[in-house]
Amino acid sequence: MLPLDTDRNPPPSTAAPCIGVFDSGVGGLSVLRALRRQLPQAELLYAADSAHAPYGERDPAFILARCESLLAHLRRAGAQMIVVACNTATAVAIEALRNAHPDLMLVGVEPGLKPALALSRNRRIGVMATQGTLASARFLRLAEAHTAGIHLHLQPCPGLAQALETGNADSAEVGELIARHTTPLRNAGVDTVVLGCTHYPFAAHRIAEALGSTVALVDTSEAVARQVQRLTSALPSQKAAAPAQTSLWTSGDPAQLAHIAARWLDFEFNVQRLAGV
Ligand code: DGL
Repeated sequence: MLPLDTDRNPPPSTAAPCIGVFDSGVGGLSVLRALRRQLPQAELLYAADSAHAPYGERDPAFILARCESLLAHLRRAGAQMIVVACNTATAVAIEALRNAHPDLMLVGVEPGLKPALALSRNRRIGVMATQGTLASARFLRLAEAHTAGIHLHLQPCPGLAQALETGNADSAEVGELIARHTTPLRNAGVDTVVLGCTHYPFAAHRIAEALGSTVALVDTSEAVARQVQRLTSALPSQKAAAPAQTSLWTSGDPAQLAHIAARWLDFEFNVQRLAGV
């Protein structure tokens, strides 16, 4: 029997899993975009907690409570598995969520240190992320496990996720924040930078420009989508294949989310208000 390379050639799906995805706001749309590419037939449900973004400078107990509410909403809406499309929420809350929901498949996102190690030639790696992610015990364990002998420059980027919440990655404010947060990375001589927040891929072109062409960027959204694709085959009951639907909810302004998603997603979706969550 020939070995299957599921990473490069996912088997065509004949059923339509229903996957719930959430983030503090619009950043997780970068993961949703990758999920749609990987799972063209899946029903995708996305909850943006924009009324409470950013999570990056919030208290862990607050973040966990928000995650519980979003997760409950997505389960009520039919999600069979949940993708925590937020590095900060994964770092702070995924262990508690897994303990509280042992029956539920939960996939988190983490800064891509392993792919960065594979790419770096000078063994100097930068990580751009929120303060919450970089200060978390989970991230520190990940860094300890993978970066012996590596110069790791941790770069908190306060303000950047919030500035991207407007959907305008080309704004002057985003440019100023990127200039401020990439200067220490350039000074540190890193040749690889991990985008450790799901908002940042939408500004990847500007971050790349600020860091220069010799610096490689690592975004894990495609790898997360491949992992989800593999896991969907283990779901107990899959709905019959139906036209792929994408439903977005927000605790913020639905018109604003519709506007941003129309810029960032190349597939159809509907938007609703996240009420009572
Ligand atoms: N997109 C999120 C992350 O991946 C959260 C950013 C924030 O809300 O501060 O960390």
